[in-house]
Amino acid sequence: MADKWATWLLKTRFGGDKEAEREGMRWLVGVRDRVLDGAGIKDGYSVLDVGCGDGLIGCGAMERVGPCGRVIFMDISEDLLSAAREQVQAAGLDGSSEFVVASADDLTMLADDSVNAVTTRSVLMYVEDKAKALREFHRVLKPEGRISLAEPINRYSHDRRDRERFRGCLLPGMEETARRLNDFFVDEREECAPMLNFDERDLVDMSETIGFRQIHLDLDIDVGPSPPISWKRFLGAAPNPHVPALAEALDDLLIPDERRRFEEMARPQVEAGAGIQRRAMAYLWAVK
Ligand SMILES: C[S@@+](CC[C@H](N)C(=O)[O-])C[C@H]1O[C@@H](n2cnc3c(N)ncnc32)[C@H](O)[C@@H]1O
Repeated sequence: MADKWATWLLKTRFGGDKEAEREGMRWLVGVRDRVLDGAGIKDGYSVLDVGCGDGLIGCGAMERVGPCGRVIFMDISEDLLSAAREQVQAAGLDGSSEFVVASADDLTMLADDSVNAVTTRSVLMYVEDKAKALREFHRVLKPEGRISLAEPINRYSHDRRDRERFRGCLLPGMEETARRLNDFFVDEREECAPMLNFDERDLVDMSETIGFRQIHLDLDIDVGPSPPISWKRFLGAAPNPHVPALAEALDDLLIPDERRRFEEMARPQVEAGAGIQRRAMAYLWAVK
């Protein structure tokens, strides 16, 4: 059985919905290009992609470094490293690639001053000690090397949410159910704490303290109506690798009558896009 990172990234993140996957990937390609632009990658560079997943950023980096360059794909998930290796082969990418199992906060297998760029997307959010990881990125970079990262700032929407709603849906008369679901998915989940223990200013401050000499951060905040989605997709998607898909949680947490009432109230709102969506994404690049 695939590990939880691979199961989420390759199966449940889009709720098994092909249209959602196409939409999500369109957005991710834009994020990828922004991360790669921030890294200032040139022909022949060596790039370390931390938390490479199935290869989104690393494959893009391979195209930019060309046949004389080198990309190190690094992740804690062996299953995802295999998926990334398959992507590299399927794309017929030239240049050298390595696939390494390691954690972002311990890159001891890499020498000091050994790569031109470190990229990462949506990985630090899962790492408890972000400063330790950033220190490792700084250590392995050559002088003048760059980190470039994109991280969701989940604290932005978390601090503004109404706990009596669940995923944007108003549940009049079912506030206790909404609170129980919110507790289950975020508030009482220790492994979700790193997703909320930082914001964009912390990323800048940590980078400065560690010794990066030039730092730039863009913060994108989008607030608007949540897009209308099918009930199947709403039930099938898991928002992150630490939690199950909603359908599974509803089966475990709600009694049948409560579950029926939840669907009666939430479904029309989900299908009509009646909720509010708040998203914040930080893009940081910094020079050693
Ligand atoms: C949201 S996915 C992002 C994957 C990839 N960067 C992308 O842009 O598609 C998070 C990735 O971080 C990896 N990950 C989680 N904790 C990690 C850690 N401590 N060190 C390195 N990778 C980690 C997961 O295995 C997963 O591949």
